[in-house]
Amino acid sequence: MTQAQPPGVERILFTEEQIQQRIQEVAAEISARYRGRDLKLIGVLKGSIFFLTALARAIEIPIRIDFLAISSFSNRTAVPGMVRIAKDLDESIEGEDVLLVEDIVDTGFTARYLLQTLAGRGPNSLAICTLLDRTASRIVQVPVEFRCFDIPDRFVVGFGLDYKQLYRNLGCVAVMKPD
Ligand code: IMP
Ligand code: MG
Repeated sequence: MTQAQPPGVERILFTEEQIQQRIQEVAAEISARYRGRDLKLIGVLKGSIFFLTALARAIEIPIRIDFLAISSFSNRTAVPGMVRIAKDLDESIEGEDVLLVEDIVDTGFTARYLLQTLAGRGPNSLAICTLLDRTASRIVQVPVEFRCFDIPDRFVVGFGLDYKQLYRNLGCVAVMKPD
Protein backbone atom coordinates (compact mmCIF):
# COMPACT_ATOMS: atom_id res chain seq x y z
CA MET A 1 0.00 0.00 0.00
CA THR A 2 1.35 3.47 -0.83
CA GLN A 3 1.04 6.35 1.61
CA ALA A 4 0.78 10.02 0.64
CA GLN A 5 3.76 12.08 1.80
CA PRO A 6 2.56 14.73 4.28
CA PRO A 7 3.79 18.33 3.87
CA GLY A 8 7.11 19.07 5.59
CA VAL A 9 8.15 15.46 5.34
CA GLU A 10 11.29 14.51 3.42
CA ARG A 11 10.83 10.75 3.32
CA ILE A 12 9.01 7.95 5.06
CA LEU A 13 11.34 5.92 7.25
CA PHE A 14 8.88 3.22 8.35
CA THR A 15 5.41 2.66 6.91
CA GLU A 16 2.39 1.95 9.07
CA GLU A 17 2.54 -1.71 7.95
CA GLN A 18 6.21 -2.05 8.91
CA ILE A 19 5.55 -0.49 12.31
CA GLN A 20 2.57 -2.72 13.04
CA GLN A 21 4.53 -5.80 11.98
CA ARG A 22 7.45 -4.92 14.22
CA ILE A 23 5.16 -4.13 17.16
CA GLN A 24 3.65 -7.63 16.87
CA GLU A 25 7.15 -9.13 17.10
CA VAL A 26 8.17 -7.06 20.12
CA ALA A 27 4.82 -7.74 21.82
CA ALA A 28 5.43 -11.46 21.37
CA GLU A 29 8.86 -11.11 23.05
CA ILE A 30 7.25 -9.21 25.93
CA SER A 31 4.43 -11.74 26.33
CA ALA A 32 6.97 -14.56 26.49
CA ARG A 33 9.27 -12.74 28.90
CA TYR A 34 6.58 -11.67 31.39
CA ARG A 35 4.19 -14.64 31.26
CA GLY A 36 2.88 -15.47 34.74
CA ARG A 37 4.01 -12.14 36.17
CA ASP A 38 2.33 -8.86 37.11
CA LEU A 39 3.14 -6.59 34.16
CA LYS A 40 2.42 -2.88 34.16
CA LEU A 41 3.03 -0.68 31.12
CA ILE A 42 3.88 2.91 31.97
CA GLY A 43 3.39 5.33 29.10
CA VAL A 44 5.36 8.55 29.00
CA LEU A 45 2.93 11.25 27.81
CA LYS A 46 2.31 12.36 25.22
CA GLY A 47 4.63 10.82 22.63
CA SER A 48 4.23 7.18 23.67
CA ILE A 49 0.43 6.84 23.59
CA PHE A 50 0.14 5.65 19.99
CA PHE A 51 2.87 3.07 20.51
CA LEU A 52 1.56 2.04 23.93
CA THR A 53 -1.96 1.34 22.69
CA ALA A 54 -0.73 -0.65 19.68
CA LEU A 55 1.72 -2.59 21.85
CA ALA A 56 -0.83 -3.25 24.58
CA ARG A 57 -3.32 -4.65 22.06
CA ALA A 58 -0.68 -7.05 20.75
CA ILE A 59 0.52 -8.30 24.16
CA GLU A 60 -1.12 -11.61 25.05
CA ILE A 61 -0.78 -11.61 28.84
CA PRO A 62 -2.81 -9.56 31.37
CA ILE A 63 -1.40 -6.06 31.84
CA ARG A 64 -2.10 -2.91 33.79
CA ILE A 65 -1.53 0.56 32.34
CA ASP A 66 -0.54 3.84 33.96
CA PHE A 67 0.86 7.12 32.65
CA LEU A 68 3.20 9.86 33.67
CA ALA A 69 4.06 13.11 31.96
CA ILE A 70 7.40 14.83 31.92
CA SER A 71 8.60 18.28 31.10
CA SER A 72 11.63 17.51 29.07
CA PHE A 73 14.27 20.05 28.31
CA SER A 74 16.51 17.35 26.97
CA ASN A 75 15.87 17.92 23.27
CA ARG A 76 18.20 19.77 20.93
CA THR A 77 16.63 23.17 21.48
CA ALA A 78 17.35 23.60 25.18
CA VAL A 79 19.58 22.68 28.09
CA PRO A 80 20.37 19.00 27.83
CA GLY A 81 19.53 16.64 30.62
CA MET A 82 16.88 18.60 32.50
CA VAL A 83 13.77 16.52 33.15
CA ARG A 84 11.00 16.70 35.73
CA ILE A 85 7.73 14.82 36.31
CA ALA A 86 4.78 17.04 35.38
CA LYS A 87 2.10 14.39 36.04
CA ASP A 88 2.88 11.43 38.26
CA LEU A 89 1.54 7.87 38.13
CA ASP A 90 -1.92 7.25 39.59
CA GLU A 91 -0.91 4.07 41.38
CA SER A 92 1.96 2.47 43.25
CA ILE A 93 4.38 0.20 41.35
CA GLU A 94 5.72 -1.56 44.42
CA GLY A 95 6.32 -5.25 43.76
CA GLU A 96 5.24 -4.99 40.11
CA ASP A 97 7.06 -5.78 36.90
CA VAL A 98 7.22 -2.42 35.16
CA LEU A 99 7.85 -1.70 31.52
CA LEU A 100 8.46 1.94 30.74
CA VAL A 101 7.09 2.63 27.25
CA GLU A 102 8.83 5.42 25.32
CA ASP A 103 8.44 6.90 21.85
CA ILE A 104 12.16 7.47 21.42
CA VAL A 105 15.34 7.18 23.45
CA ASP A 106 17.72 9.82 22.14
CA THR A 107 20.40 11.27 24.44
CA GLY A 108 19.12 8.95 27.18
CA PHE A 109 18.64 11.71 29.77
CA THR A 110 14.86 11.25 30.01
CA ALA A 111 15.05 7.47 30.24
CA ARG A 112 17.81 7.56 32.85
CA TYR A 113 15.90 10.05 34.99
CA LEU A 114 12.70 7.99 34.81
CA LEU A 115 14.51 4.72 35.55
CA GLN A 116 16.20 6.23 38.59
CA THR A 117 12.96 7.77 39.85
CA LEU A 118 10.85 4.63 39.37
CA ALA A 119 13.54 2.33 40.76
CA GLY A 120 13.19 4.17 44.07
CA ARG A 121 9.57 3.00 44.36
CA GLY A 122 10.33 -0.67 44.83
CA PRO A 123 9.15 -2.36 41.62
CA ASN A 124 9.93 -6.07 41.27
CA SER A 125 11.56 -5.30 37.91
CA LEU A 126 11.96 -2.28 35.67
CA ALA A 127 12.79 -2.18 31.95
CA ILE A 128 12.40 0.06 28.91
CA CYS A 129 10.50 -0.62 25.71
CA THR A 130 10.90 2.03 23.02
CA LEU A 131 9.48 2.43 19.53
CA LEU A 132 12.59 4.22 18.30
CA ASP A 133 16.16 4.16 19.53
CA ARG A 134 18.77 6.60 18.27
CA THR A 135 21.82 4.91 19.73
CA ALA A 136 24.15 7.15 17.72
CA SER A 137 23.21 10.22 19.80
CA ARG A 138 23.32 8.60 23.23
CA ILE A 139 25.05 10.77 25.87
CA VAL A 140 24.20 8.75 28.98
CA GLN A 141 24.02 4.97 28.87
CA VAL A 142 20.65 3.41 29.64
CA PRO A 143 19.67 -0.24 29.26
CA VAL A 144 17.04 -0.54 26.49
CA GLU A 145 15.46 -3.97 26.88
CA PHE A 146 13.00 -3.86 23.94
CA ARG A 147 13.19 -1.69 20.83
CA CYS A 148 11.30 -1.71 17.56
CA PHE A 149 13.75 0.27 15.41
CA ASP A 150 17.17 1.90 15.64
CA ILE A 151 17.13 5.12 13.62
CA PRO A 152 19.69 7.44 12.01
CA ASP A 153 20.55 10.86 13.44
CA ARG A 154 17.71 12.81 11.78
CA PHE A 155 14.65 14.43 13.37
CA VAL A 156 11.59 12.24 12.87
CA VAL A 157 7.83 12.63 13.36
CA GLY A 158 4.77 10.43 13.35
CA PHE A 159 3.32 7.52 15.35
CA GLY A 160 3.26 9.79 18.40
CA LEU A 161 6.38 11.85 17.75
CA ASP A 162 5.81 15.54 17.19
CA TYR A 163 7.32 18.65 15.72
CA LYS A 164 5.85 21.59 17.68
CA GLN A 165 2.99 19.28 18.80
CA LEU A 166 2.04 18.45 15.19
CA TYR A 167 2.37 15.21 13.18
CA ARG A 168 1.71 12.89 16.13
CA ASN A 169 -1.21 11.28 14.29
CA LEU A 170 0.78 10.23 11.21
CA GLY A 171 0.56 6.47 10.83
CA CYS A 172 4.13 6.26 9.59
CA VAL A 173 7.46 7.48 11.00
CA ALA A 174 8.97 10.10 8.69
CA VAL A 175 12.11 12.24 8.44
CA MET A 176 11.38 15.98 8.46
CA LYS A 177 12.75 18.29 5.79
CA PRO A 178 15.48 20.47 7.31
CA ASP A 179 13.95 23.98 7.51
P1 IMP B 1 16.27 12.16 25.43
O1 IMP B 1 16.08 12.58 26.83
O2 IMP B 1 17.28 12.99 24.70
O3 IMP B 1 16.51 10.69 25.24
O4 IMP B 1 14.99 12.63 24.68
C1 IMP B 1 13.87 11.97 24.53
C2 IMP B 1 12.78 12.94 24.12
O5 IMP B 1 13.20 13.91 23.13
C3 IMP B 1 11.72 12.11 23.45
O6 IMP B 1 10.80 11.60 24.39
C4 IMP B 1 11.11 13.08 22.47
O7 IMP B 1 10.09 13.82 23.08
C5 IMP B 1 12.22 14.04 22.11
N1 IMP B 1 12.82 13.69 20.79
C6 IMP B 1 14.08 13.26 20.57
N2 IMP B 1 14.31 13.04 19.26
C7 IMP B 1 13.14 13.33 18.62
C8 IMP B 1 12.75 13.28 17.23
O8 IMP B 1 13.48 12.92 16.30
N3 IMP B 1 11.46 13.66 16.98
C9 IMP B 1 10.59 14.05 17.95
N4 IMP B 1 10.92 14.11 19.26
C10 IMP B 1 12.20 13.74 19.59
MG1 MG C 1 8.78 12.59 24.46
